[in-house]
Amino acid sequence: MNPVRVIERKRDGHENSREELEFIVRAATNLSAGLMSEPQLAAWCMAVVWRGMSAAETATLTLAMAQSGDRVDLAGLPKPWVDKHSTGGVGDKTTLVLLPMLAACGLTCVKMSGRGLGKTGGTIDKLESIPGFQTALSIDSLVAQANQIGLALTGQTPNLTPADGTLYALRDVTGTVKSIPLIASSVLSKKIAGGAEVISIDLKCGSGAFMQTHEEARELGDCMLGIARELDLHLGIEITDMDQPLGSAVGNLIEVQEAIETLSGGGPARFRELVIELCASMLVTAGVALSHAAAMTQARASLDDGTAHQKAHAWFLAQGASVSLQEITALPLAPIKNEIKATQSGWIKRIDAGVVGEVVVDLGGGRRSKGDTIHPGVGVRVQKAVGDPVAAGEVVFEVYAAHDPTEAAQQLTRAIEYSPTEVAPRPVVMERLA
Ligand code: URA
Repeated sequence: MNPVRVIERKRDGHENSREELEFIVRAATNLSAGLMSEPQLAAWCMAVVWRGMSAAETATLTLAMAQSGDRVDLAGLPKPWVDKHSTGGVGDKTTLVLLPMLAACGLTCVKMSGRGLGKTGGTIDKLESIPGFQTALSIDSLVAQANQIGLALTGQTPNLTPADGTLYALRDVTGTVKSIPLIASSVLSKKIAGGAEVISIDLKCGSGAFMQTHEEARELGDCMLGIARELDLHLGIEITDMDQPLGSAVGNLIEVQEAIETLSGGGPARFRELVIELCASMLVTAGVALSHAAAMTQARASLDDGTAHQKAHAWFLAQGASVSLQEITALPLAPIKNEIKATQSGWIKRIDAGVVGEVVVDLGGGRRSKGDTIHPGVGVRVQKAVGDPVAAGEVVFEVYAAHDPTEAAQQLTRAIEYSPTEVAPRPVVMERLA
């Protein structure tokens, strides 16, 4: 196969054949074999950015990438085998609550999660704020734990979808991340390799998310549904609001604490609504519940009757946590606490999730570059949601910092907009695509 010809065909707007796409994936899986150089792979990615890919091409690429390395084999574990993916957001602790809910409803969840980079936090960083919690499980331990308690989570294993690993790293430095078919195939290849048959996609949309507009989010969702049709995957997609932070807590330990509160039947109303909606959608997509209404009842019950909390307890224990859920909620946050108060009375019009996420990174709760270390105890608690009434002088943000939080306070003050007239709350689920 001539690599230049493969790139030129995409550059000129043609479809790449199955053989060509499999060649690209082989080249990316083993760069040292020299089938294609890194500049050639990057040039092909740029051609895809401009020319796009058909549903069939995208599905072929997805499957080839899923098959490029190790795969998790869940044979013998109770079905359905499920996984969830969020496109990332500010205050997004959904996995910490949704996984135990799904396991409490009898589903088997095996999940690989990433670390955070930039304003969107990573589940692995959040879990690592729990003393003793092990985030690097071998595939064998992952499967054994899922068999025993219904759920298991690990960080990315290097030999899962290695082709995506190479392509993503190249895209990251060549301005080619933002391509709908490349994003969709990258996400779904990892889910397929992780063993899932039923997948819930929480497609975040807004200032704190990768997809800033509803249209972009819908385009990505439609592309994923096209792949699912070609590959016979069961996919549920919800487009959800990320124009304001999710729940109250943004950070690492502070988010784990809020997740435990939610698993105990409390937690912020919008966050609770989201996890119930996502759990219900998964139960319907997996064919476990006959109607959305029945699924909502089952999902809600898992939080209110303590079964999801019990699953979380078993999960944390199985992965080495040396403290109980109750003890985690009492762990101290960073020592310097600062309250930011409303400058006006009225209603909350906007809380810029992107700005809140950046503030938490600046406080040390996230990474600017890959090697940065995280301070688990720093964070922000957002005390209001869009549409809430507010009185001048009321606390709108609490900041937990390890160093002088003056700049954080100034930025947060600018992140909030007030309205003198009533503002409608924003729905947390904006659209269901499946
Ligand atoms: N996340 C991924 O896993 N892949 C992409 O291409 C973009 C975001």
